[in-house]
Amino acid sequence: MPLRFFFFFLFVAVLGPFPLAAEQAERAAPETEGRELVKLPPPIRDYMLEAMRDHLVALNELLDALSLGDFEQAGIVAESRLGLRSPEGEDAADIRKHLPRAMIEMDMALYEASGRFVEIAQDARNLDSATALDMVFAGLRDITDACVACHSGYRLR
Ligand code: HEC
Repeated sequence: MPLRFFFFFLFVAVLGPFPLAAEQAERAAPETEGRELVKLPPPIRDYMLEAMRDHLVALNELLDALSLGDFEQAGIVAESRLGLRSPEGEDAADIRKHLPRAMIEMDMALYEASGRFVEIAQDARNLDSATALDMVFAGLRDITDACVACHSGYRLR
């Protein structure tokens, strides 16, 4: 076989499958998308997404406080930004009317985890640092567990 044909076949053999694989992945996406679509009136959906972005900012502030060893501040952030007394917590009744029951329960799980974190952060101040850190990180993991559980079940768009 002339060398240029060899390279042509090599090219086809190596690169040929890629566009096909990409097309298949694109077509397969809706079937592998297991999350339930929750249709909300656009203003409610936008409000919820804004609250979500604020959740992430709050989580970042909580980590910032922990990185400084400031458990008290971490507890304040959890209570005021991720708990029932957060701005979203107060508006929650309006939003809940539009959400499936299981999703509301997942939202409550976040508030509960945040409430537990507040208590853990308070207790941690009286413990030696290794035990305190174990407790605080387990509490933080329970908060992010609540984020992950809902995200893997639902989407808004
Ligand atoms: C009760 C359900 C629920 C909980 C709890 C939850 N989320 Fe969400 N979040 C959603 C849904 C639904 C979306 C939209 C996803 C989509 O449409 O693809 C979303 C979207 C987001 C987005 C993207 C916002 C945007 O503008 O695109 C961020 C960031 C986010 N969540 C952060 C968090 C964090 C951090 C937590 C936990 C502290 C959390 N969420 C807890 C349901 C939840």
